Amino acid sequence: MDNTTFEIQKFDIKLETSKIGRNFVLADEIESTNSYLLDKENKIDTHGTVLLAEKQTQGRGRFNREWNSAHGQNLTFSIFIKPSAQLTNKLNLLNLGTSLVVSQTIDNLFQVKTELKWPNDVLINKKKVSGILLESVSTGNVISRLVVGIGINVNQTTFPGEYNIPPTSIKFEYGQQIEREKLLAELLNNFEEMLKKIEDEPDSIIKEWRRNCRMIGEKISISQLDKIRYGIFEDIDDEGFLLLKSEDRIEKISFGDVSVS
Ligand code: BTN
Repeated sequence: MDNTTFEIQKFDIKLETSKIGRNFVLADEIESTNSYLLDKENKIDTHGTVLLAEKQTQGRGRFNREWNSAHGQNLTFSIFIKPSAQLTNKLNLLNLGTSLVVSQTIDNLFQVKTELKWPNDVLINKKKVSGILLESVSTGNVISRLVVGIGINVNQTTFPGEYNIPPTSIKFEYGQQIEREKLLAELLNNFEEMLKKIEDEPDSIIKEWRRNCRMIGEKISISQLDKIRYGIFEDIDDEGFLLLKSEDRIEKISFGDVSVS
């Protein structure tokens, strides 16, 4: 039996943050944790609020794909961020930094080795264990609501349906039931530190991200809406864009699905 009740007390003991996750909301079933926090009518305005859902009925991913996750087995949650002007200019870094935090937290807690796939997927053995969806609402030119949505396959071991990247979970790779409370608390501890790094030492995020991405240097294809680009994954630049080398030029890529070709 993999379905467990999330115990807030167990989570709270391990949480060491000052803001992130201090306001914590647990929902049994909700459409999408991202949608809920983005909607100002729901009146969640406290920086760092974390909304965790045991089940999302309309969980979504990048390019409006579905994010499916079995009830009570995984972590599907969103973090509400009150964006400073500085952070607003560094959303790419927040994207990369979040995938780095997920990857490093899993690596540190369990004997599995994750890798990063640009821009923000986390893989184990080439299969997807986590996806991240950053969304915002703007009023004029100013971002008024910013939400970081994270889905991690934790204890689910079968994945019915069709996926563009084959899914896996930590339990599937590690072989043991995972305590979700400890994983979430540790992840939020690291997330808060990463937020500080974006302001104080943004280069360190780019450097660490590069170190954990094994696709750099590989021949890749990038699928973008109606076209596919081919080339060598040269690097990511200081702002987090992918640099694609094709023939004699280097293109800066801001979105797309990357595959090793
Ligand atoms: C992706 O890989 O395309 C991103 C998946 C993001 C899924 C998470 S689950 C919690 C949050 N709520 C959503 O509706 N989506 C994100």
